[in-house]
Amino acid sequence: MFSRSALRVARIAARPSVTKATRAPFSAGAKLWNAEFVGEKEVPAVSFEGGEAQRSTLIVDKASSSKRNTVDTVVPLTQEVYDSMTPSLQKMTIKDKTVIVTGAARGLGNMMARACIEAGAKNMIIFDANPELGIASAAELHAATGSKIPVEFYPIDVRDAVAIDQAVASITEKYGAPDVLINSAGIADSNIPCEIYDHEMWRRLIDINLNGSFFMAQAVGKAMMAANKPGSIVLVASMSGSIVNYPQEQSCYNASKAGVIQFGKSLAAEWAKYNIRVNCISPGYMDTALNNVPALDAQKKIWKSMTPQARLGAVNDLNGLAVFLASDASSFMTGSNVLIDGGYTLY
Ligand SMILES: NC(=O)c1ccc[n+]([C@@H]2O[C@H](COP(=O)([O-])OP(=O)(O)OC[C@H]3O[C@@H](n4cnc5c(N)ncnc54)[C@H](O)[C@@H]3O)[C@@H](O)[C@H]2O)c1
Repeated sequence: MFSRSALRVARIAARPSVTKATRAPFSAGAKLWNAEFVGEKEVPAVSFEGGEAQRSTLIVDKASSSKRNTVDTVVPLTQEVYDSMTPSLQKMTIKDKTVIVTGAARGLGNMMARACIEAGAKNMIIFDANPELGIASAAELHAATGSKIPVEFYPIDVRDAVAIDQAVASITEKYGAPDVLINSAGIADSNIPCEIYDHEMWRRLIDINLNGSFFMAQAVGKAMMAANKPGSIVLVASMSGSIVNYPQEQSCYNASKAGVIQFGKSLAAEWAKYNIRVNCISPGYMDTALNNVPALDAQKKIWKSMTPQARLGAVNDLNGLAVFLASDASSFMTGSNVLIDGGYTLY
């Protein structure tokens, strides 16, 4: 049973036209979501199927940071189109896969979720710590597919291992074990010299970027193993895990992403015997809300000047790589860390 206000939220969210979440300015240590949400032990979910919101236990609360994704069309891969593809192209799809994308309420995660649907995902499950934006984005994504692809939103903070386990169990019960995890949830602190780095901020960032990758991979990996199912885990790291950014000081972020890369490699070695592949995507500077703040304008000019392609990556520039790593086209690839940075790391 769901409360009236919760159902109202689901109904509102099911309307594709919902917009206007507020955008909080990013600054070092700015809260990108409602921290009080962390530790939720129930795992409420909202499903969008057949054009309807199916259920919700969520009470939307305070305004949270957001940059809405634009509504456009997401074209699901049909059987007819799949059948007309050459074998090589078929291998590049993720037809009939169940996919979890974290941090997909907006930004790179949201775009990768869209791409996965166009590449054949049968179900799309979004985990994000921003409940208001997550519900709206799931509704929007479902509507963008012409209400053809179920999109389920779980208001999960990737620091909350208990909630993650419960959510993965619930997904597995409904759809079977997930085939693909793309872990894109992450935060950044920048322009903070190490000597004045607040200890709590450091712990919080490591907790989200590194521990969150571990909690997510462990929960999804265990579900894949229990079902004896091959799977692909894609961890979104950063070029900052391999280089030191200039000019901003951001030792904690860089350390967290280096940890993600080494964690991904270690996991790839451990889980190859279960037919579970683990790879990292390491983006360069991307044009997302994470960087979309006036305070970074001057630095962006420097970033561009240091990038051979002389631009930031577009928000959908990871899509092809994410689908490739999720698909069987990359079946001999595990433990890789793929830089996708417009050439930034060449210099
Ligand atoms: N934007 C860039 O330039 C860039 C470069 C390299 C790597 N990355 C990485 O790509 C990933 C996505 O970045 P983005 O630019 O799309 O950022 P974004 O801020 O636009 O989106 C991040 C999403 O993650 C969610 N999130 C934050 N903390 C969470 C938590 N604890 N639990 C669950 N969800 C949480 C947010 O609500 C948001 O929806 C991050 O891991 C980031 O470090 C980004």
